[in-house]
Amino acid sequence: MLTSPKFKIIEDLISTSTREELIWLNGYLAGIVAQTTEQREQEAEIIPSKPVVSKITIAYGTETGNSKKLAADFAAKAKKNGINAKLVSLDQYRLNDLTKEEYFFTVISTQGDGEPPAAAKKFYDHIHQNGFRLDKLKYGVLALGDTAYPLFCKAGEDVDQQFQKLGGQRIISLQRCDTNYETEAGNWFGEVLQKLSTDNKEISSASPVAAPLTITSKKSSGKKIYTGTVLTNINLNDRGSNKKTHHLEIAADDLDYRPGDSIGIVPENPLSVVETIISLTGIDANKKLSYRNEESTVFNLLKKKLNIVYMPERVVKKYAALVQQEIPETKIGLSDLLKIYPVKDSSQFEEVFDMLEPIAPRLYSISSSQEAHNGEVHITVAKDTFAVNEETKFGLCSDALCQLPEGDSINFYVHKNSQFKLPAADKDIIMIGPGTGIAPFRSFLAERDSTGASGRNWLFFGDQKFASDFLYQTEFQNWVQTGVLNKINVAFSRDQQHKIYVQHKILRHGAEFYEWLQSGAYIYICGAKEPMSADVENAILEVIRQFGNKKDNEAVAYLEKLKEEGRYMKDVY
Ligand SMILES: Cc1cc2nc3c(=O)[nH]c(=O)nc-3n(C[C@H](O)[C@H](O)[C@H](O)COP(=O)(O)OP(=O)(O)OC[C@H]3O[C@@H](n4cnc5c(N)ncnc54)[C@H](O)[C@@H]3O)c2cc1C
Ligand SMILES: NC(=O)c1ccc[n+]([C@@H]2O[C@H](COP(=O)([O-])OP(=O)(O)OC[C@H]3O[C@@H](n4cnc5c(N)ncnc54)[C@H](OP(=O)(O)O)[C@@H]3O)[C@@H](O)[C@H]2O)c1
Ligand SMILES: Cc1cc2nc3c(=O)[nH]c(=O)nc-3n(C[C@H](O)[C@H](O)[C@H](O)COP(=O)(O)O)c2cc1C
Repeated sequence: MLTSPKFKIIEDLISTSTREELIWLNGYLAGIVAQTTEQREQEAEIIPSKPVVSKITIAYGTETGNSKKLAADFAAKAKKNGINAKLVSLDQYRLNDLTKEEYFFTVISTQGDGEPPAAAKKFYDHIHQNGFRLDKLKYGVLALGDTAYPLFCKAGEDVDQQFQKLGGQRIISLQRCDTNYETEAGNWFGEVLQKLSTDNKEISSASPVAAPLTITSKKSSGKKIYTGTVLTNINLNDRGSNKKTHHLEIAADDLDYRPGDSIGIVPENPLSVVETIISLTGIDANKKLSYRNEESTVFNLLKKKLNIVYMPERVVKKYAALVQQEIPETKIGLSDLLKIYPVKDSSQFEEVFDMLEPIAPRLYSISSSQEAHNGEVHITVAKDTFAVNEETKFGLCSDALCQLPEGDSINFYVHKNSQFKLPAADKDIIMIGPGTGIAPFRSFLAERDSTGASGRNWLFFGDQKFASDFLYQTEFQNWVQTGVLNKINVAFSRDQQHKIYVQHKILRHGAEFYEWLQSGAYIYICGAKEPMSADVENAILEVIRQFGNKKDNEAVAYLEKLKEEGRYMKDVY
């Protein structure tokens, strides 16, 4: 990036500066970068010069709408600059067209554990197949992600690399962005527009990855972390239930969320596990180590930063190479790994830190509304319970949340979901949310109640037993009485011999369900992805087939159209 005389000056400066001076310099440079960024953003609005390229495609892969918003913004900017930009969602993209594309820009987020969004999966799989070339393709990829996750921007990286493998020419380096992506993304597209202008007659290839602005600037550009106080923490399930579902009310200043958003929480590791690891390895708990450019004590890293309770296979593989042992590639906790395949000594253990990944955040749908619950955010947490070798275990974050005493503080951030939002006040909505899937719908109804929205509301809720598992029963019944909730249908799966689920209720009320759809209702599904959301979708298709008198393909097309119109939304996990 720098010529060697310039690099020498920087090197001299760094080697003669104190730590404090370097910190100041870091801030000073960040300020200059931010200033020029603003200028460049404004410049991007100004037409750089006449474009040589008249047509481009901007494709997006999104789960919660950020990539879509950015892609739409880029398309508008391109049009302002005289470029005809085709904007398309990757799930709508005709895969056969890819070999014909000349200028193709992808905006894609990463989901799950480094996976592409569900809507981009087909496209992602397609480009990972062999048997075709993209020799005509000139491309650029903007990757959205979150540095809190172990595999930061992995899906975008994969698309970028794969396009190159298939013969495409990368005309702009991959830009990875953290959760506050606006500035870097705007910058990146400003550069794209420059490349497409007459100033760059010969569009040149770019290096794979842009300067690691987003990684090094993690701290300054990070998300807003709230510190809240737990006001209430109660179990919503009654005696006799198989489950524990906690309702938490958290007070915090300057909250900014809308119904449909979630909060993200990074759980801490259990003290007992941290202490076991320290005693197994003999490492000094107060020793300071550097992890991903930050210094922290061994104790702090093990307690608050690193995933040690259930590590992915890729970490186990690296550990096996370090200790030179054959270890089956399976998920496992660090303390078990150390017990079965010990490290030589504490200094070998220090090498393990570089392999460990950060603790991933857990998301919880917000079940409150700022209109109704000013200064508070509520969540609905199912205590994750599972068995390992017949021993009952609990999920790291949900267990900690369920035990959190009232009065304790808790750190969290708001994860916005612009794809799961209430429609205009006069529109009807159908909400389908078994189990914790109920959470956003408590938020929707509280909001509609407080704002006096005139649209009709219909809720399908399901859980195991009426007597113990009807979450928020009194509140929903009140909303029925006050006319906020026009219809409610419940399915208690374990109150009889055979299972009754929400989809059975949808089918039973199919005629009316279809009538609501025909009169413009919006459908929302929240809760378990598999198998619930797939089964519910099949039931909706059945309703459309039966009551709309449609063939299979016509019913699929009907639901597709609802999706395109933003009238069919899912937030499933
Ligand atoms: C958009 C979104 C919204 C969500 N909303 C909600 C919500 O409103 N309410 C809610 O309750 N949840 C919600 N979730 C799920 C939530 O984020 C967590 O995934 C859930 O609470 C489990 O996290 P945990 O840390 O408790 O469990 P983890 O510790 O992450 O465990 C998860 C699973 O990993 C396996 N596992 C973990 N440790 C071990 C081990 N030692 N041995 C073997 N297997 C193991 C088990 O199968 C376990 O069930 C949402 C998720 C998303 C993505
Ligand atoms: N291991 C455990 O002990 C345990 C217990 C509860 C929750 N969880 C996990 O915790 C998470 C959240 O749980 P939750 O309370 O939100 O929901 P949930 O317990 O998964 O389910 C809520 C309701 O949905 C029903 N259901 C199951 N399969 C369905 C399907 N295919 N279609 C429609 N409904 C279906 C359940 O019935 P049935 O359960 O009767 O089939 C139950 O009545 C889930 O990921 C779940 O796997 C684990
Ligand atoms: C369940 C979930 C898993 C995620 N996993 C990752 C991940 O593995 N790597 C990453 O960089 N970002 C991850 N993210 C962060 C998203 O990529 C980020 O929030 C992005 O802005 C979402 O963009 P979208 O709205 O276009 O989907 C995850 C987000 C969620 C909700």
